[in-house]
Amino acid sequence: MRYTFLFSFLISLQSFAQKPSVNASKQLDYCVAQLKKAVPEQTDYAREPRRIPAGQKNWNTVAVTDWTSGFWPGTLWYAYEYAKDPFLKAKAEGFTESLATVLNKPVVDHDLGFQFYCSYGNGYRLTKSPAYKKILLRAADSLATLFNPKVGTILSWPRPVPNMEWPQHNTIMDNMINLELLFWASKNGGSKKLYDIAVSHATTTMKNHFRPDWTSYHVVVYDKQTGRKIKGVTHQGYADNSMWARGQAWAIYGFTMSYRESGRNEFLETAQKTADVFIKNLPADHVPYWDFNAPDIPDAPRDASAAAVVSSALLELSTLVKDKALQVKYRAEAEAMLASLSSDTYQSHAVNNAFLLHSTGHKPNNSEIDVSINYADYYYIEALLRLNKLQEAEK
Ligand code: GLY
Repeated sequence: MRYTFLFSFLISLQSFAQKPSVNASKQLDYCVAQLKKAVPEQTDYAREPRRIPAGQKNWNTVAVTDWTSGFWPGTLWYAYEYAKDPFLKAKAEGFTESLATVLNKPVVDHDLGFQFYCSYGNGYRLTKSPAYKKILLRAADSLATLFNPKVGTILSWPRPVPNMEWPQHNTIMDNMINLELLFWASKNGGSKKLYDIAVSHATTTMKNHFRPDWTSYHVVVYDKQTGRKIKGVTHQGYADNSMWARGQAWAIYGFTMSYRESGRNEFLETAQKTADVFIKNLPADHVPYWDFNAPDIPDAPRDASAAAVVSSALLELSTLVKDKALQVKYRAEAEAMLASLSSDTYQSHAVNNAFLLHSTGHKPNNSEIDVSINYADYYYIEALLRLNKLQEAEK
């Protein structure tokens, strides 16, 4: 027992000696300052900031139907949570409430979880507004209409997408994040079936989306009648068998969250295995290239968004694993990623109004390469808030 403690203590000392620790509140102050520049430029609640291309200062916006529409209001809620500034709260409310119209239209894909849990979910957590709760429960029921019980997962794209053999059933790894809305709804007045759908989706994904080395396929196509796996392929990665950085990031985050919500050990083990292969293959600055198998590494573009998602997930994972050495390992890796993201290489400062530079959206489509992007900023500020809470508790 004593030796275990001594060993863990030494590992801890070694990790913290090697990796720079991050002052979370200082970096959160930076985020709030960037937002104070960005928000006055955004005057239309019906348009949500999504990206800032290289050479531009201000956010390019999209309609509320876009899959990323929840990240800007979610970022504002996180900033309000930290700074307690009524101006940020008013803006968070405005950009959140404009999303409600999405629910009046037919369900076009699985992204309702991203859109509603990041915006209304954070808003409800901080305000307990009954109106927000109602919207969240509606969004969860809408998302559940895409569940196919013969396959055991939610259909990600209910439409023809190249290489997905429509009208067969497709499920993308990103879809794991949307389960948080279902878990939440099942525990907050929604149907218990939503919990079963979330567990079924995570279990089926765990069985079909991973290769023996725990790297993941971006998409699995299933026979919609029998549930048989037809193939594992990519949509946004370099190749069907490559490790697309953000896809793996969604897996790490999604299985960590699914363990938190369900207590199922197999999800915790999956989160660890998917995290371990990601961490083991990172470049020296802890921010991945957009795809771990991109042929032009080290000249390939980075994806800061994947590092932001994983840093947030690893902070949570470090609080869920029982083994002290693993707690230290995941915490140290999260901090190393955040230290790198918080350096002048990745932070935007005067370059533009975002928090972070150097994310890659859809490289095979030649779109959003080496840009600032709203989900990088959302998961970066979420990770900093998580770290800030840990650091405050340790004081
Ligand atoms: N969910 C789409 C993406 O990660 O780019």
